[in-house]
Amino acid sequence: MSQSNALRREVDAAPAPQAQSFDINPLPGPVGAEIIGLDLSRELTAADFSRVHQAHLDHHLLVFRDQRITPRQHIDFSRRFGPLMIHVLHQFHLAGHPEILTVSNIVEDGKPIGLGDAGKYWHSDISYKELPSLGSLLHAQELPSEGGDTLFANMHLAYDTLPAALRNAVVGKRAVHSYLAQYGQLQKEGNWRPNLSAQQIAQVREVVHPVVRTHPENGRRALFVSEGFTTHIVGMPEDESRALLAELFAHSVRAEHIYRHRWQPHDLVFWDNRSLIHLAGGTPDHLRRKLYRTTIEGDVPF
Ligand code: OGA
Ligand code: MN
Repeated sequence: MSQSNALRREVDAAPAPQAQSFDINPLPGPVGAEIIGLDLSRELTAADFSRVHQAHLDHHLLVFRDQRITPRQHIDFSRRFGPLMIHVLHQFHLAGHPEILTVSNIVEDGKPIGLGDAGKYWHSDISYKELPSLGSLLHAQELPSEGGDTLFANMHLAYDTLPAALRNAVVGKRAVHSYLAQYGQLQKEGNWRPNLSAQQIAQVREVVHPVVRTHPENGRRALFVSEGFTTHIVGMPEDESRALLAELFAHSVRAEHIYRHRWQPHDLVFWDNRSLIHLAGGTPDHLRRKLYRTTIEGDVPF
């Protein structure tokens, strides 16, 4: 058989994806919907994918329940939304899968197997890059019997409900985002963070983004600052900048903007980093927690 015939056979043999019947149930709060009955280990049809995509835009966060997927399948599904980002902390890449960052408080042979203090401050993933993240997908591997929740705040709502004085104060403003904003502080607070090499530091030079961004797909405005990565507002005296950011941070995380995710086994949570900021609620030290994260690249905020 010629090589091209052999290839054609393989293509013909790949089964066409089958439609799946699944429910999209909005969660009661200001963010999120639960997806029941969809199996992400199977390839999605174009129509099923487009339903998922629209639900993600409508709800900003999707909880796919009971996903028995491999790291490969997690990566393949994530890639359908855009190119994946490789996290600067290569120490915590999953072996053989640099697209996956291990988020875990587990220590093996005296060494952390993952980033143990991920999300200790409110943040939008990788907002410290020129091209911040579109969204992240976090897949539960091992969950503690208590604690370990993740909180999400709706930054469209935060913008829409800004008091007039604050709204006027942020018009046209830009802010600096830096991976190093809290790094030294986090190193002092725990033993999770390696010293960064010169090469790693070169990968995370600070960037400037608008304080209010327009979501490229839903057209809505959102606040785009966070205590995790935003250091100051460009062109403002240091004390004024600090005071304004403190007010914006406090307003962003008002209780009515927040969804608290209580993890269930095999949950895959896919959130929109252009619409939400998030925070790790914290896990008691003696309980093990491990999740795998992929991060999709987005576009330049405007
Ligand atoms: C993350 C993150 C929070 C958590 O993985 O990006 O912020 O609760 N995680 O693990
Ligand atoms: Mn995060």
